Amino acid sequence: MSDDPRERIIICRCNDVTLKDIEDIIDSGITDIEEIKRLTRIGMGPCQGRTCLPLVAGIIARKTGKKIEEIELPATRVPIRPVPMGVLAGDMDEE
Ligand code: FES
Repeated sequence: MSDDPRERIIICRCNDVTLKDIEDIIDSGITDIEEIKRLTRIGMGPCQGRTCLPLVAGIIARKTGKKIEEIELPATRVPIRPVPMGVLAGDMDEE
């Protein structure tokens, strides 16, 4: 591990992605959050990005000078929280 303090700041705890990882990708010219997701697997952990995706959007905004509202979050493709199989099958109500 280097002396770079950004390596100690975890942005995606599910996939162990640091602030340095994200900033290095952005510094290489990649500012699309979908591309960053594919490169690092942010948003693909058990929490489905509830923590890391807003953080990465903020980092992109800060480093590119865009407004946070301009950063489009990736589409959610699976349930954002655990759902019993019975709910998906229609056999029971959620909760
Ligand atoms: S913190 Fe990134 S997917 Fe959970």
